[in-house]
Amino acid sequence: ASVAAVIPAAGRGVRLGPGAPKALRALNGTPMLVHAVRAMAASRAVSLVVVVAPPDGAAEVRSLLDAHVLPERTDFVVVPGGATRQESVRLGLEAVPAGHDIVLVHDAARPLVPVDTVDAVIDAVRAGAAAVVPALPLADTVKEVEPAAAPGEPEPVLATPSRARLRAVQTPQGFARAVLARAHETVTEDVTDDASMVERLGETVVVVPGHEEAFKVTRPLDLVLAEAVLARRRL
Ligand code: CTP
Ligand code: MG
Repeated sequence: ASVAAVIPAAGRGVRLGPGAPKALRALNGTPMLVHAVRAMAASRAVSLVVVVAPPDGAAEVRSLLDAHVLPERTDFVVVPGGATRQESVRLGLEAVPAGHDIVLVHDAARPLVPVDTVDAVIDAVRAGAAAVVPALPLADTVKEVEPAAAPGEPEPVLATPSRARLRAVQTPQGFARAVLARAHETVTEDVTDDASMVERLGETVVVVPGHEEAFKVTRPLDLVLAEAVLARRRL
């Protein structure tokens, strides 16, 4: 089955601080989005990449992709995104033509995911899973708290879930296209990843090993780490 990758890249990057939209910020001279597109196109299975651009930035993103070297076997489509990540993914999914029965959803903000992780996700969908997420065990213990009434107030701890059973989830997440499409038609609650929409349908989601280099560039320190990883790869 032919694989399409949807890359939501329409966010502002508020937590990264002032500047260009996060996906257009440079990592060692190349926009984060270009790294992310290359990471998807690096998989021989991926024949189409749909980039979901900032709502007013589709033309800019199109010319950015045209200006960088990308694998010839992959097609690229750019569509404008929405106000939330969920809406952006839906708009990207609608731009995937029939015939792509497997869809990956990959954050532009995870520019350094290794191709082996991408292929592991695809392989698990091909083996029959409706939804696959790469994930890692947690380094930190996690507490559930009662969120502070006012900023800076101490927060009472409600519970400590057993860390051994927790995983930190990354992207690309892989789906049988029909299942992800149904999730977007049915689920209206706010979610922070695509697989949780599929969970709400009652479908099984499985985890495969993620990778440290698939971390999300969220805060300024993540830029430092990303550039160091690229320097180590000599990119
Ligand atoms: N995203 C999107 N459309 C939105 C919001 C987010 O396509 N309306 C994308 C981002 O571009 C990013 C991915 O979803 O590639 C993961 O989101 P996140 O890391 O939260 O990025 P931002 O929303 O841009 O950052 P912040 O939450 O700090 O503003
Ligand atoms: Mg966000």
